[in-house]
Amino acid sequence: MSRAGVFISFEGIDGAGKSTHIESLAAAFTAQGRAVTLTREPGGTPLAEKLRAMVLNDAMDPLTEALLIFAARRDHLLQVIEPALARGDVVLCDRFTDATFAYQGGGRGFDGPTLHTLEQWVQATPAVQPGVRQPDLTLWFDLPPETAAQRLAGARVPDRFEAQPVEFFQRVADGYAARARAAPQRFARIDASRSRHEVWQQITATLVRRGWLSIMVSAQSGPR
Ligand code: TYD
Repeated sequence: MSRAGVFISFEGIDGAGKSTHIESLAAAFTAQGRAVTLTREPGGTPLAEKLRAMVLNDAMDPLTEALLIFAARRDHLLQVIEPALARGDVVLCDRFTDATFAYQGGGRGFDGPTLHTLEQWVQATPAVQPGVRQPDLTLWFDLPPETAAQRLAGARVPDRFEAQPVEFFQRVADGYAARARAAPQRFARIDASRSRHEVWQQITATLVRRGWLSIMVSAQSGPR
């Protein structure tokens, strides 16, 4: 029996602690026999990774930044995400369009209606499904910007976003909250200020509730 693909995105401000959980979730899905495509934005294809390097390192105006991010997304969707969903994979994507609304919209103050237009163009997949491609579930790692800043302090050389002050991340966090209010069925808020184990429990409970992860596999897995 062929299984339907599942598209899950991971969001939150820098320092929210998504990375280890994405890896663990990939392992948990693999353990229950699912094929997993693990990917990220900006990036996920050779072209989109080149665009990522520019966006994270080169100075540019906000419209150029938004256009490069959406160009990378278009390539990623067509080359990686849509084919993986068509095969029936679980696609785990470290950030997707909500990050653009949070960082470029909230953080940079870029014009929301323009982002909505780009979202409609770039995520339209008429050959595959009518409408606009969105994740089936977005795990939103929510925590206060001050806590995230403490976690990030001294961790590595910051990129153009990580180098921003705490006020920027407050606007990014507000941007995520607004997206979550607009799509409450798609968003699951994870309290990322809790211990790593408690965060993992919140994630697996969400996936078990949706019928995508078995209780047994979720109990045996988790970040080390
Ligand atoms: P991140 O996902 O945190 O990767 P890493 O853990 O390797 O640093 O980094 C990507 C950065 O790009 C992050 O600071 C947020 C930013 N970003 C945007 O500004 N807009 C977007 O649409 C996306 C996807 C990411």
